Amino acid sequence: MADIPAGFVRPALTGLTPYEPGKPVEEVQRELGLERVVKLASNEGPLGPFPQALAAMERAAGELNRYPDGGAYRLRTALAERHGVRFEEIAVGSGADGLIDGLSQAVLDPGDELVCGWPSFPSYVIYGLKLGASPVRVPLRDHRYDLDALLAAVTPRTKLVYICHPNNPTGTMNTRAELDDYFERVPEHVLTVLDQAYFEYIGDPDYGDGIEEYFKSGRRVIVVRTFSKIYGLAGLRVGYGVAAAELVTELTKTRRAFDLTTPAQEAALASLSATGELGRRRDANAQGRAKLERVLRNAGYNVVGPAVGNFLYVDVGEDAQSLFDALLRQGVIVRPLAGFGAPTAIRVTVGTSEEHAFLADVLARLKTTAPAS
Ligand SMILES: Cc1ncc(COP(=O)(O)O)c(C=O)c1O
Repeated sequence: MADIPAGFVRPALTGLTPYEPGKPVEEVQRELGLERVVKLASNEGPLGPFPQALAAMERAAGELNRYPDGGAYRLRTALAERHGVRFEEIAVGSGADGLIDGLSQAVLDPGDELVCGWPSFPSYVIYGLKLGASPVRVPLRDHRYDLDALLAAVTPRTKLVYICHPNNPTGTMNTRAELDDYFERVPEHVLTVLDQAYFEYIGDPDYGDGIEEYFKSGRRVIVVRTFSKIYGLAGLRVGYGVAAAELVTELTKTRRAFDLTTPAQEAALASLSATGELGRRRDANAQGRAKLERVLRNAGYNVVGPAVGNFLYVDVGEDAQSLFDALLRQGVIVRPLAGFGAPTAIRVTVGTSEEHAFLADVLARLKTTAPAS
């Protein structure tokens, strides 16, 4: 095929580095000839979908000759009921990521600004850059979102302020009082995106529910959630947002007609009614997170915190790529964080007890084989 001439592709894409997904287990296994590979890289739930979701997917499989319900009517109805909001206030997307992409398309023009903390979830920046908008990355303070600094970065051209809550990759949260204060002070022309992708994991009484506390009190906010994490459906891609009906209408225009497949909608719907399973997984994650933290600390690593989600951030104080590579060679995939703005850190997702034990063995082995410095 002939070369694509210079200037053919939109200039906004020219210097853009796309999101780099975590390495797949099978690929690492094949490449390195490893018997066992443990993936603690992508903040996925370690336990698979809920049994109710698996059954729903199986039922849906027989109907795959049909297009999905493009309006996700039953899922949006159930979500509206769950959160006590109107059907028209629920937007769905192909993952929370799809929603963030659609939101960016709906509101950002070249020259518009978005503000987010940094290091943080790269999609906020990447999707803005794709559209020619200008991301303003505000450094974290003590590894937490600095809401005062975020507000100070707002200009008349700012359209979106992202609050990653808890922040990926550091795992830290802002308190209710901090967020209350932020919402009191944020200028009217800004739409705040409160990203609560890990909401269901969090038991801290100081952690606010964005839908109950900010959306329902009339703040200019979209609260983002996902089925990818505690519900164990990352591979299906279902996310949603709660926002003003007018904004939801605009978001619907940026979505592709059928981007939520039938099994995805059915599995999400079935997961919503499994509240017992949700509680069990929340407890298991809290215990697992404490265990994982002990494993990392025992190996001498600096774990940042307090972390409230299903992942831990480890600052190694030097380029973390070599630790990533060393772990990979031993069969543990973690997340190097250069793309998140943190080249000296890795992120480790909470796994099962066996996976933590495997990691502990690998770390012990690395210690004994590390060259003396
Ligand atoms: C903070 C945050 N927001 C959004 C997402 C995207 O999730 P989804 O799988 O629903 O696209 C992630 C995924 O890791 C995340 O960490």
